[in-house]
Amino acid sequence: MPGPGAYWFDKEEMDAVMEVMKSGYLFRYGSESDPKFLHTVSSLEKEFAFYCNTRFGLATSSGTVSLLASALAMGLRPGDEIIVPSYTFVASYTSMIFAGLVPVLTEIDESLTMDPDDIESRITPHTKAVMPVHMLGNPCNMDRIMAIAKKHNLMVLEDCCQAAGASYKGHKVGSIGNIGAFSLNIFKTINSGDGGLVVTNDEALYETAFGVHDQGHKPMRFGVEVGNRNILGLNFRMNEITAAVGLAQLKKIDKITTVLRQKRNRFKSLISEAEGFKFRILNDPSGDCATMCTVIFSSVEEAARVSRALGSKTVDKSGWHVYYNMEHVLNHLRQIGQPHSKGAYPKTDDILSRAMNISIGVVDGGLGAGWGININSSDAEIEAAALQFVKACKG
Ligand SMILES: Cc1ncc(COP(=O)(O)O)c(C=O)c1O
Repeated sequence: MPGPGAYWFDKEEMDAVMEVMKSGYLFRYGSESDPKFLHTVSSLEKEFAFYCNTRFGLATSSGTVSLLASALAMGLRPGDEIIVPSYTFVASYTSMIFAGLVPVLTEIDESLTMDPDDIESRITPHTKAVMPVHMLGNPCNMDRIMAIAKKHNLMVLEDCCQAAGASYKGHKVGSIGNIGAFSLNIFKTINSGDGGLVVTNDEALYETAFGVHDQGHKPMRFGVEVGNRNILGLNFRMNEITAAVGLAQLKKIDKITTVLRQKRNRFKSLISEAEGFKFRILNDPSGDCATMCTVIFSSVEEAARVSRALGSKTVDKSGWHVYYNMEHVLNHLRQIGQPHSKGAYPKTDDILSRAMNISIGVVDGGLGAGWGININSSDAEIEAAALQFVKACKG
């Protein structure tokens, strides 16, 4: 079950893919003298950077490698610590571990994003960066996080994988810290099946991220550069077909978030009459992607009862995104002396056990959001879902 962009796959995506196929150029590089070469990856990079109001954009093969390339671009070195929230997708940790870094976890607050009150106690002499994750499309409290980063001279890598289209106080996520990483997988606001993007205003970060994503080459190489490479890279390139879908989806992003916000507002106002819960904090109510409506019940029992009645789950039972459900990451952290089994982050445990994610645009059982509405839900369907929720609350 996908994100909202996938519900709106249509002729635009199909035509764009056919154009690339007809051009004969599927690789991101092609013959500059041939007018048939469409430069689709390069266009996506420019248009996404323009959308985020950043100087540079880089297209990659996934959100995971966008995070990895960003960390390496920031000059983080093996053994350096990066502060990451305890509620996020596993890739926020594994991408850092593959860069040789040590993810140090913080509590979340009732926005279900990094708790700014818990960051400073996690800082050690090895801490070099902080990774705010704009979880469930909800921008983090970037004013507080940026102030802490500035005070302690930390780099800021924004994990925007779940938040393309979100903004914080007028600034698109990804443009606030040093660098931002996005995912274009099928569960995201807009998608190209799989894929990723990196944005930054810093030319040096862009150049290094580019090299990491393409065997150490300088941006926009035309041919193989020999004798001119000073960093090691891998192949995290995006291809022209993926970019064609991404570009077609990018043209829909504002419409997607506008429709989602309308549906979210309608759903929220209809369920507000029920009691026993509050809505998660939105750090910028007008900038949230509105892919999700998260409710936090006053007791664990109530949360379990209501979510069961709706055939859903509380967030702590939803699987993947809860730190103590990542046995492979926990094993790794244990080996380097950081025990992170259940109970290590009591505030996070408490919030997640009382929270339920209701889909508005991202219908994803893996996030505990298998129940709710979607971007195509009619008014009648929204009303019916709201009524069902209110009845479940009333018992
Ligand atoms: C918060 C977060 N970070 C990173 C990723 C990784 O993105 P991808 O699946 O494109 O590698 C995801 C994807 O689900 C995510 O939700």
